Amino acid sequence: MSQEHMPAPATFRRLFAAYYERASRGASEKSFMEPIRKEIVGQAEGLVLEVGAGNGLNFAFYNPEYVERVEATEPDSAMLGYARTRAKTAHVPVILTQAPVEQLPFADAYFDCVVCTLVLCSVNDPLRGLQEIRRVLKPGGRLLMVEHVRAHSRVLAFVQDLLTPINRLFAGNCHWNRSTEQTVHKAGFQDVELEQRALSGGLIPMVMLLAKR
Ligand SMILES: C[S@@+](CC[C@H](N)C(=O)[O-])C[C@H]1O[C@@H](n2cnc3c(N)ncnc32)[C@H](O)[C@@H]1O
Repeated sequence: MSQEHMPAPATFRRLFAAYYERASRGASEKSFMEPIRKEIVGQAEGLVLEVGAGNGLNFAFYNPEYVERVEATEPDSAMLGYARTRAKTAHVPVILTQAPVEQLPFADAYFDCVVCTLVLCSVNDPLRGLQEIRRVLKPGGRLLMVEHVRAHSRVLAFVQDLLTPINRLFAGNCHWNRSTEQTVHKAGFQDVELEQRALSGGLIPMVMLLAKR
C-alpha cells in the first residue's frame, strides 16, 4: 500500500471526529462554512445521496419542498454517531449507511443528485469515489460539491505538499494538495461549473463545483 493510500490509525480518526464535532460549534463554521452549506445543499432536489456526511452538518439545510429523501453515507463510526443525532432533527428523512464513497451500496442511475462537501480531500481514492458517484447518478443528475483544492500558485502548492503528510495524520487523512477539479473531469462529469472561494490567504483555496453526469 502506498503512503498516499495508507489510512490514519483508528485512534487518530476518533480524535479527529471529536475535534471536528467541537469545531463545528465554532465561529468559522458559522461565519464561513454555514452560508456555503446553505447555498450548495439548497440546490439539492429529489432523491439525494450525501457522501462522507461526517457529523451531519448539512442535514439541517435540505429543503423539504424539493427533497424527497437523503441517503447519507459515512465510513467512520465516530462521525456516524454524531450524524445520527443530527439526522433526527433534519426537515427531510435522512437514512444513514456506513460506507466509503469508493464502494457505494446503491444501484446504477438511482439518485437525482449527490452532495459532497469537504470529502474528496480525505478519501483514499478520489477518482474511484467520483466514478462511483457518477455511476449512482441518473443521466443528467447533478453533483453538488464544495472542496478545498491544490493552490494555483507554485509556491503555495509547494507549501501544501510540505504540510500534507502531517495534516493527513492529524486531520482525518485530509490532503491540502489535491487537484480535485481535474479528477471530476477525469471521472467523466459534464458541464462543470466552478466558483473559487479563498481560505487562509490562498493556502487552502476552496471551490464550489457543480457538474452533471
Ligand atoms: C472534513 S470531514 C467533512 C464532513 C462533512 N462532509 C462536512 O461537510 O462537514 C471529511 C469526511 O470524509 C469522510 N471520509 C473519509 N474517507 C472517506 C471515504 N473513503 N468515503 C467517504 N467518506 C470519507 C470522513 O470520515 C469525514 O467524515
